[in-house]
Amino acid sequence: MIGFFDSGFGGLTVMKDVVRLLPRYDYLYLGDNARIPYGTRSAGIVFEFTRQAVDYLFKRGCPLIIVACNTASAAALRRIQQEHLPAAWPGRRVLGVVRPAAEAIVEKGCRRVGILATEGVVESGSYPVEVHKLDPTVEIVQQACPILVPIVEAGEQEWKTADVAVAAYVKMLLSRNDGLDTILLACTHYPVLMPIFRQHIPDRISILEQGPLVAEKLKDYLERHRWIEERISRNGERIFCTTDRNERFDRLARLFYGAPVTSTMVRLGDNL
Ligand code: DGL
Repeated sequence: MIGFFDSGFGGLTVMKDVVRLLPRYDYLYLGDNARIPYGTRSAGIVFEFTRQAVDYLFKRGCPLIIVACNTASAAALRRIQQEHLPAAWPGRRVLGVVRPAAEAIVEKGCRRVGILATEGVVESGSYPVEVHKLDPTVEIVQQACPILVPIVEAGEQEWKTADVAVAAYVKMLLSRNDGLDTILLACTHYPVLMPIFRQHIPDRISILEQGPLVAEKLKDYLERHRWIEERISRNGERIFCTTDRNERFDRLARLFYGAPVTSTMVRLGDNL
């Protein structure tokens, strides 16, 4: 199976696009809903939680894991790839969502880009760093949106507060650079707020969401890494796990995944 991990529901917005593009593989999703949000936590804690999730998915047999969470990708991915994999899981692979989005920004020729993300992602500087490795002339401004993940995770995206919060964050972002050509929704929870973002972001600015970008990049990765592609099972399975109440997960996950979801509750690490 291809493992997918997020702090909660957000990674389902990415998995939905990946499953659509690559339906032949099996997928195992893990949402750490019991410990969300990650975006306001320290990088050290996010690393530890992500390592536990990765260990869980590898123990379930995944040869490849997508960390479909920008916060976890920014805080933990490099260390997991460089230290944890060689020591504990040689021959397995973990990919994130920051690098594919940075590549897409440059490939699409975006010149002035706004990043909307969690506090953890903004503070990590991962987007400016990754984009500037590819093209140092792209202008980037960022805005942290700490209240959006709790709103979305509560299933309250239709609530008036969601509209007020999105309007305020977009205004703050545009006050940093009013000539943006692109805004990246750099948190996998935000696509469910897309209609509200579109309402508050001027039409001349393109909005990028990560699902389609990650799906294309993963397809390309699997074509270039046949040795790992051959190890992924293909029985039409989609398995969903959460660290919190699974009946609640099933009810809300549908909004993110776009199809009915039946999950089981699992435990990660020693502290749950
Ligand atoms: N979905 C996560 C991301 O893409 C953030 C959620 C959280 O704060 O835990 O960054």
